[in-house]
Order: sequence, then C-alpha cells, then structure tokens
Amino acid sequence: MKIAIIGGGPAGLYAAILLRKQRPAAEITVYERNRADDTFGFGVVFSDATLDNFEKYDSTSYRRITQEFAYWDDIAVHFRGTVHRVGGNGFCGCSRRRLLLILQERARELGVSLRFETEISDESRFADADLVVIADGINSRFREKHVAHFEPEVDVRSNMFAWMGSTRPLDAFTFIFQETEWGPFIAHAYQYEVGRSTWIFETDPGTFERAGLKGLNEKQSADRMAEIFGWFLEAHPLLTNRSMWRNFPMIRSKRWVKDNMVLLGDAKASAHFSIGSGTKLAMEDAIALAEAMEHAPTVGAALEQYERGRREEVEKTQHAADVSLVWFEHVDRFWDFDPVQFAFGVMTRSKAITYDNLALRAPDFVAEVDKAFARQVRAKGFDVDIEKPLAPMFQPMRLREMELSNRAVVSPMCMYSAKEGVPTDFHLVHYGSRAIGGAGLIFTEMTCVGRDARITPGCTGLWNDEQEIAWRRIVDFVHANSVAKICLQLGHAGRKGATRLMWDGMDRPLEEGGWDIVSASPIPYFPDSRMPREMDRTAMEAVKAAFVAAAGRGGRCGFDMLELHCAHGYLLASFISPLTNRRTDAYGGSLENRLRFPLEVFEAMRATWPAHKPMSVRISATDWAEGGITGDDAVAIARAFAEVGVDLVDVSTGQTVRDAQPVYGRMFQTPFSDQVRNEARVATMCVGNITTADQVNTILAAGRADLVALGRPHLIDPSFTLKAAAWYGAEGVFCPPQYLPGKEQIFRNSAHDRQDFEDLKMKAKPRTRAELKAEASKPLAAE
Ligand SMILES: Cc1cc2nc3c(=O)[nH]c(=O)nc-3n(C[C@H](O)[C@H](O)[C@H](O)COP(=O)(O)OP(=O)(O)OC[C@H]3O[C@@H](n4cnc5c(N)ncnc54)[C@H](O)[C@@H]3O)c2cc1C
Ligand SMILES: Cc1cc2nc3c(=O)[nH]c(=O)nc-3n(C[C@H](O)[C@H](O)[C@H](O)COP(=O)(O)O)c2cc1C
Repeated sequence: MKIAIIGGGPAGLYAAILLRKQRPAAEITVYERNRADDTFGFGVVFSDATLDNFEKYDSTSYRRITQEFAYWDDIAVHFRGTVHRVGGNGFCGCSRRRLLLILQERARELGVSLRFETEISDESRFADADLVVIADGINSRFREKHVAHFEPEVDVRSNMFAWMGSTRPLDAFTFIFQETEWGPFIAHAYQYEVGRSTWIFETDPGTFERAGLKGLNEKQSADRMAEIFGWFLEAHPLLTNRSMWRNFPMIRSKRWVKDNMVLLGDAKASAHFSIGSGTKLAMEDAIALAEAMEHAPTVGAALEQYERGRREEVEKTQHAADVSLVWFEHVDRFWDFDPVQFAFGVMTRSKAITYDNLALRAPDFVAEVDKAFARQVRAKGFDVDIEKPLAPMFQPMRLREMELSNRAVVSPMCMYSAKEGVPTDFHLVHYGSRAIGGAGLIFTEMTCVGRDARITPGCTGLWNDEQEIAWRRIVDFVHANSVAKICLQLGHAGRKGATRLMWDGMDRPLEEGGWDIVSASPIPYFPDSRMPREMDRTAMEAVKAAFVAAAGRGGRCGFDMLELHCAHGYLLASFISPLTNRRTDAYGGSLENRLRFPLEVFEAMRATWPAHKPMSVRISATDWAEGGITGDDAVAIARAFAEVGVDLVDVSTGQTVRDAQPVYGRMFQTPFSDQVRNEARVATMCVGNITTADQVNTILAAGRADLVALGRPHLIDPSFTLKAAAWYGAEGVFCPPQYLPGKEQIFRNSAHDRQDFEDLKMKAKPRTRAELKAEASKPLAAE
C-alpha cells in the first residue's frame, strides 16, 4: 500500500506512525514544506485523558513525549489584584518543536519516509497512492482547492491574538485579565518545559486599535505586551517566533473525504486555543483514521467510517471551544463582577466544569463563591448567613415587594386541559403539587386573554368570571399550602392560534371548530395553516384592552406576579421578529417600530397591575434563523422593556418560524440570558434543557441569570426543589407540615448518599500525572 501525507504537523506525523505500525510493508511518505526543526509556536497542552490515549496507541512516542513534559494541576485566575487557584485539572505542556522532533524520530525509526522542504501544490502527483492524507493545517491549500466538495465554513472571530513565549516559570495554567487604559487584555499562559512558557495574548479589536498595536512589528508588539504584563513577567523577556496578531478562524467542513483523500487535523476543523485542544484533535484524528484503516475492508470504507465515527466527537469539542471563545470575546460583560464570581465564570465557561464538580476538587474555592453570592444577597437586605451560606439556588430574591424563598422556578407549561378556558381540577393538582414541591416561583401556562386568543381549545384563559373563580382557587391553594409565589403568564396566540392539542399535532391547524386568527402580518405558520388577518388599529386596541382586562382579573385572583408572553412566535412576538412582521406602518420596519405594540400592551398592563407587584416579559432572544432576531437584538428588546418598568426578562428562544435551526444542548439558551443580563443590566430568568440542581447552581453562581426555570424536569418531578434542598443541606426549604416525616427522611438519607457519592467519585478519579510526579519526587518518610 502506498500512502502520501501532505503536512508534517502533529496530525500528519502521528498518522504516519500509526499507519506504518499497522502496515509495516506500506510505503508511507510525509511531505513537509518547512525544514525539520523549523517550527512556529512554543508549547502545546494535553489533558491526562489525551495522554492515556497516546499511551494506548504508541507507547514509545508516549514515553518520549511525557519525559519532556511540564505537569500542572492548578488553573490560576488573576483578576483585579486577586488570584484564585483551582486544583485537580490534570494537564501537561510540551514544546511544539520537541513534540514534532519526537514524532519525526519515531516515524523514521518505523520506516516512514520524511521529505522536508517539499511544498506540494498539486495532489495529482500522488495518482498511484492508495490513500492521500491532507494534514496541511488551518490554511489548508487542498481544502480550499476542493472547496466546492469539502464545503468548509470559515468563521473568522473578532478578537485579535498573538502567540508568544517567555522564560517566566509558571506552576499553573494561568489566565491574567488585565485592565489597561485602552481596554482589557487577556493572557493565557502555561509552562511547557523548564524555563519556557507559552503566552497567548488576546484582546478585542477596539482595544487592539487603541493600544496602537496595528502596524507594530513583532518586536514592538512584544515590548508593548511586556509593558502591560511586566508586573507578572518579573523581568523575564517575551520571545517571538512569527508572533503576528491575527484573528482566529473557526473552521468546520461539511465533508472530510474526497475519493481516496482525507482531511485531518486543523485542515478539516479548528478549535479555539482557549480550550487547548488543537493538537489533541489533530492527533486523535490520526488515531481514528488508523482505527478505521485497521478494521474496514477497503480504503473507501475506512474513510467513510473515519468520518462517520469521528464527527460527533470533533463537533462536541468545537462546540465547547465556541462557547469558550465567546466568553473571552465578551469578557467586558463580567468586568465589574466580584473577582471570585469572575473566576467561577472562567472555570465554568464551557459547561464541562460545574458547581458540584468544583465543590469536589476545590471545596474552598466553591465556599468562597457561595460566600460572595450570599454577600450580594445580603446587600439587597436579606438576613442570610454569610459564614455558612446556602448554595445559590437556595438564596432568596426580591422583585419589587415580592420575595422568593429560592431561585428555582416552574417554567410556564401549557397543559392543554382547560374546558372553554376554565382551569380544572387537573390544574389545581398540577400547580398545587409543584408549589408544595418547593419551587420558589410557579408560572402558569400561557393563559389567553380571549377566546380567539387561544392556541388550542385546551388552553386556559382569563376573560370571564368563571375562569377568574377557578384561577383564584388555585392561587389560594398555593398561598395557603406553600411559600411559593405564583406568576400569571398572559398571552395571545396570534398566527399560531386555532391549532390542535399538543398530543394531536403541535402547531397543526384544527380540522374542525377553528376560529379566525390575527397576526402582525398575513403570513401562515405552516403553508397549510390558517391565514392570519393583519391587525389594524382597531384590532390592536381591542387586544390591548383584553390584556388589560385579564391583568385586572389576575390582580383580583391574587397572583403575585404577571408575565407578558412576547416569545415563541405568538401574537406579540410576531410583531417583534422581522421574519413575521412585514408591516409598513409605524408598527413595522425598525426594531423600535416592531416593539411599539408589545410595549404599548406592557405599559397599559403595568398601569393596571399593582405597583408593588413585579412584571416580567418572556422573549425569544434569537429566532435561530437567517434575518431574524439575534442576541444583540435581545439586548435592545430587554432595554426597551426595562425602560417601561419590566422587573425580569424571561429569556427563551425560537419557535418563531418553521425553518429555524436551533443549536440544542445542555443549558442551550443560557448564553442568551447571560448576554441580556450582563449587557442590558436587567434581571433575567433562563430556561431550556437545564435538568439538574448542579446546573442551576452553576448558572446562578456564574452570574448568568438571577432565576432558573425548569419545564420538563418539573413535569415528572414536582418535588425537584425539595430533593435538591436535601442534597445541598438547605434545611430551611419549605415543606408542608403534612409531609415533614418525608422531609426528615430525605434530608437524613441525602447526607449519606452525598457522602457516598463523593467518596466513590474521589476513589474512581485517577491520580493526575502532576500528582503522581509530585509524589514520586517526595523524599520517603523515615521508617
Ligand atoms: C495561538 C495558538 C495556540 C495554540 N495552542 C495550542 C495548545 O496549547 N494546545 C494544542 O493542542 N494546540 C494548540 N494550538 C493548535 C495547534 O497548533 C494546531 O491545532 C495543531 O498544530 C494542528 O495540527 P495539524 O497537524 O493539523 O496542523 P499544523 O500543525 O498546522 O501542521 C500542518 C503542517 O503542514 C505543512 N504544510 C502546509 N501546507 C503544505 C504544503 N502545501 N505542502 C507541504 N507541507 C505543507 C505546514 O508547514 C505544517 O507543518 C494552538 C494554535 C494557535 C494558533
Ligand atoms: C408541554 C409544554 C408546554 C409549554 N407551554 C408553554 C407556555 O404555555 N408558555 C411558555 O412561555 N412556554 C411554554 N413552554 C416552554 C417551557 O416553558 C420551556 O421554556 C421549555 O420547555 C424549555 O425548558 P425545559 O427544557 O426545562 O423543558 C412549554 C413547554 C412544554 C414542554
């Protein structure tokens, strides 16, 4: 077999090693345009888990690589004169140059032919090869040559970065967030061998300009960085090696294989340097390719297997890298945070590390995070314990005069079980049991302001006395039997009205018994949906009056809070999104115009609703669709509502148009809550695939939301909050007297369960290489 490999970086060399080990008779050649020891950059970093993988696939190169490594366990975050260190991270650094020399040596030993200073411009010279591996890096010439086939998507990020080195020793992966007269600079730094560390500097384009970095040569920009970070560098110089400032390109390719050619490493997909996974991905690609070549019957089948088997893992890492890079791009959002909360945000930015996870390996750090959170709550006038604070989820909160005993919320969820808009015994049991279950705040489902405002025939309403009486019974039950507060969500279905019950076909038009529907513009939801009538001024006044009347009824029912539903493509949302609003009057066009009617409705309700009670608005912070609402619009929308008195923005997303492309995942809407909260500076509630109390605490502690709503988890577990309280030892959580024996039991058992769980986790956790090395170098205790 004949294999040609274009590119002698980590991907190309490691692929050569593994393929040659597998096929000693194969003729394998690596073509590299540079000289053998002519490499850019300084160090690379691997996690312990990646090293375990290397050990399994080629123990010889693994041993040589790890002999040269610098190990560390801690991540240190320097911010505004403070340092927070978090242990248990298990990373190693090594020089990129050393890594490549080790891989070259190993490849040579195995009989791979290495051709340096050989630039390949045309792959047709490999017409007789069985396999052509394209590992030519991030600016891959061959990916671009076959751009129509590979269909790469290149997202050039806004921040500028430069990769430098230093002799400054470091004993932790170090993040330095540095305020300057021009704006914030960030250093990501780690040691990779004795007396050598990598320094990646990053800043936003505005700060880059203001700092005068544009046009400086390498030496001058290193001098500028040395001035900024001199206090930390302690007279150690900054070293350069092609250290020009650039923008990071996030690359994803639709296809990785063309005939017998396959893309590997950065050529096919890149991952932002802030999660240090580029070289790991490149070498693990080589492993995946070798695995596929070993097991598949033909080269074609192997390449197909490689792409199919590897894509998910790569995309997961890229997603984590995306989330991480966005955090760094928007670091100014958190600049006025308490330093410990800021450090917690750095640690948890890409979702892999959570509150519980940190509590296990850095309990002192999490204790500090809890204290900082409790201090903020105390500053708002609550008499909470700062020395032994409760977890963030169990900290109280106030909106106007409404006090919540904790921050877990039952998200609004339509039950499709009302009779002519009247909530039934089902609703009494449903809301009642969730209130008894411990959540601090319960939202009603979208309750419609008129018969024709309903989504389905099963939706609740609040336009007549019978409905008002039924709702009052529910509110009274909640107040009499729990400390939960209850918020009425009012809405109008708009173009999504006259549709079937969820279990008969969500958003599908009713076959019989439908009613006329209205919207901002006459655009049906599905092509075969009912055509909505464009609202004129008279219809708008009537709808506004219906909202005000329902709010009045809500007040009489005793609801504690009122939410206006402006999300998910319903009537008011259809005014806000440009995808559903094509009006040419004062209510269409600019965002300001599109917001005019929802704001009018909100203001009219606010005037009716008691001044001491809070109001929120639910928005779709993105339409997940081209030309639709984006996170930046959401910030403007939140600001506009805040100006007319909103107390909380309930940040959901999507459901505006059928062809949306949401990116689902754990806590997938939380970044929008984060953006709205920390840019518009309003309180937010986040929601969406948040399933554990650990996630709730992670979000709250990092300052990404003020309240956390859970929808589906509450459908199957009304006592979600009580159980979480038992886990975290939040004794003060409300429990009705009838259930106290159950509470005592679960609190007792949870304390043991938690201890057992933590012991098991600690036992199962392999020792990091840094720990093992530290132990090996300890002198033996005297007998
Ligand atoms: C600032 C920065 C910091 C980083 N930090 C880390 C880190 O800490 N940890 C980490 O794991 N990764 C890190 N990376 C990423 C890492 O450098 C890359 O992800 C990794 O090197 C990818 O390996 P590769 O083999 O795919 O590509 P490369 O290492 O880019 O290798 C491609 C090779 O192909 C050669 N080549 C290109 N075109 C041709 C041609 N036509 N003919 C012949 N040869 C050709 C090039 O000369 C090069 O040697 C960082 C990257 C940057 C930019
Ligand atoms: C059955 C069901 C009904 C829903 N009804 C409403 C509703 O009436 N009003 C609303 O704003 N959101 C509604 N939602 C959206 C939820 O409030 C929530 O935002 C969504 O389910 C995501 O959260 P989760 O992942 O915790 O379930 C509904 C969701 C479900 C699953």
